[in-house]
Amino acid sequence: MADVESLKREAGIEACKFVLDGMKVGLGTGSTVKHTVIELGRRIRDEGLKITGVPTSLATEKLAIECGIPLVELSSVDGLDIVIDGADEFDPDFHLVKGGGAALLREKIVAQESDIMVVVADERKKVNVLGAFPLPIEITPFSQSATVRALNRILDCRVNIRMSGDGPVITDNNNMIADAHMGPKIEDPISLESEILKLAGVVQVGLFTNMCDAVVLASSNKVETIVNPNGKLA
Ligand code: 5RP
Repeated sequence: MADVESLKREAGIEACKFVLDGMKVGLGTGSTVKHTVIELGRRIRDEGLKITGVPTSLATEKLAIECGIPLVELSSVDGLDIVIDGADEFDPDFHLVKGGGAALLREKIVAQESDIMVVVADERKKVNVLGAFPLPIEITPFSQSATVRALNRILDCRVNIRMSGDGPVITDNNNMIADAHMGPKIEDPISLESEILKLAGVVQVGLFTNMCDAVVLASSNKVETIVNPNGKLA
């Protein structure tokens, strides 16, 4: 059986087939899409591919610069052709949980600005019902305790501020991440997304509903592209 790192690499590279000359490309965050960024850099160098990228995090910005990908500010372009990004989970309706890397706010903004969203994933990310992966919620530090208490009440589950060493994880937007340990029971992610977003103090939630057009999925015996029948690639 192939190791997870090889699967991530295979998915990340395979997704580059969607990237064509002249495209404006959203560059996701994480250990799978890292391989996409590296491969796009290789194609720019070796094949003269001409693209501009918009990174979804400071970490991806740094990697993209190292790989020689020309970058632009999101505010300076009128939409993007495609975003390629990772996910922590995807369900049969192509709804996603994202934010394991704490980049969900910029990832969602970039996905919203992109014509097409392609997710790169290994087989561990495919689930029947979302929620085994703790749901990341970006919250403002101003009301952190109140927001965690409110989330705890609304979601009826353990909600923790994500820590790194002795302090909280601080996102690229100077916010914090609350992880909601819901368990695999998010049967209606669309309603849950709206409900969580109603709470002042919540900046964004890592439920990406009706955004993903295809998943490039690497399993031990194959890499396949699963197209969302209700998406823009169908
Ligand atoms: C970052 C994300 C990542 O895309 C997600 O956590 C998947 O990462 P990886 O490919 O490392 O498993 O949402 O906020």
